[in-house]
Amino acid sequence: MDNATLTLGNEVLELPMVVGSEGEKAVDIRKLRAGTGTITLDSGYGNTGSCESAITFIDGEKGILRHRGYSIEDLTANSTFTEVAYLLIYGELPSEEELATFEERLTHHSLLHEDMKKFFEGYPANAPPMSVLSTIVASLSAFYDESTQEDELELNVIRLIAKIKTIAAFAYKKSIGQPYIYPRNDLDYSSDFLHMMFAVPSEEYEVDPLVSKTLNRLMILHADHEQNCSTSTVRMVGSSGANLFGSISAGISALSGPLHGGANSAVIKMLNMIAEDGGNVDKYVELAKDKSSDFRLMGFGHRVYKNFDPRARVIKSSADAVLDQLGIDDPLLDIAKKLERVALEDEYFAARRLYPNVDFYSGILYRAMGIPTNMFTVMFALGRLPGWIAQWLEMKNDPGTRIYRPRQVYVGENGRSYVPIAERGVVSAG
Ligand code: ACO
Repeated sequence: MDNATLTLGNEVLELPMVVGSEGEKAVDIRKLRAGTGTITLDSGYGNTGSCESAITFIDGEKGILRHRGYSIEDLTANSTFTEVAYLLIYGELPSEEELATFEERLTHHSLLHEDMKKFFEGYPANAPPMSVLSTIVASLSAFYDESTQEDELELNVIRLIAKIKTIAAFAYKKSIGQPYIYPRNDLDYSSDFLHMMFAVPSEEYEVDPLVSKTLNRLMILHADHEQNCSTSTVRMVGSSGANLFGSISAGISALSGPLHGGANSAVIKMLNMIAEDGGNVDKYVELAKDKSSDFRLMGFGHRVYKNFDPRARVIKSSADAVLDQLGIDDPLLDIAKKLERVALEDEYFAARRLYPNVDFYSGILYRAMGIPTNMFTVMFALGRLPGWIAQWLEMKNDPGTRIYRPRQVYVGENGRSYVPIAERGVVSAG
């Protein structure tokens, strides 16, 4: 493909083009500043590629999501979360033997160091579980230092996937004042998590296979999503040479925000608010359009998807069936469907190409599974972990990686001389 030509005043600069394996085109501006003293300005990085990546492909116009070439529809219909984790991290679907070894390693590293239990005890009972998750994941680096042994990083990847579900379940148990339930080696990944969440020592607890299957599917749907806010954070932190646990912990914090992973609980809060207000969906659609109000339809809109979010389509298709089979009649599902219908018919949403995203329906399924609202974003983090790890490893192993360090356009004061305090007037009350 021909180079791109940039004209800056009298200067003409040839910039190479990079074409991805799915035909995506990029102008390579890596030499721009050195050649011209000029930078690009792209707040929110909507037009900026931060890396070349072979993990996940998204076509937001067509609503396509593929991991390592496999479509999300194919993976959710046929695969398991641990198999998808393997695919993301190692690049290929595992053989039977490879998967068995991977799963066995995940099973045998799922215990937390007993000393870590003291950390949970120090938190107030109402601590947000995402804060607990991110800090406990960061403190894993104090127990498993990957700088001391050569093969420690590979083992730390296993440890992290194995232990995150134990950390998440312990955080929940702490928040409700129940004893911690230890992992069980005879259960698969999602069933073990459900058992640690819901079992109590005094009672028999059987994991419902439908709930486990639904969780497995939800985790696959969240497993990776190329250079989103939390993944870029993971890569950015790691680009300085920071360890795996610290980088993932930063990603968990990035995910917690309501514009990102926090949207799934924000959706339920919004649906509850609409229900309590008599179910007047039109009123809230009008409010979301009103630029003088802060209200947005949570679970609507996406930076990349401008057609539909394929993950939302998969969730929506199973929401009815799962709720039916579990015998749950959730009035919030009816409100969600009505809201979706009204918004999709509305000119405002059509013109801006705003469609339901993955978070619009995931909360309804989490509720049906008995997961409390403040744990929803933790569930997202559990699912996204293999993606973060795969992206972090790709960043680390790419010889082209440089420390992430964007530029800025400075718009503050020009150089001026220091004024002694006695000569300064009062500038502000603050
Ligand atoms: N409700 C009402 N209006 C919206 C919404 C919404 N949910 N989302 C975007 N818009 C409007 C904006 O006001 C803006 O309108 P304007 O052009 O008249 O100013 C236009 O659509 C474009 O929106 P931006 O905020 O510029 O889009 P951006 O790509 O920066 O943001 C985001 C994407 C953050 C997802 C946004 O759509 C949003 O806030 N959605 C609600 C939160 C949410 O569901 N987040 C989850 C995202 S998916 C995920 O993380 C898994």
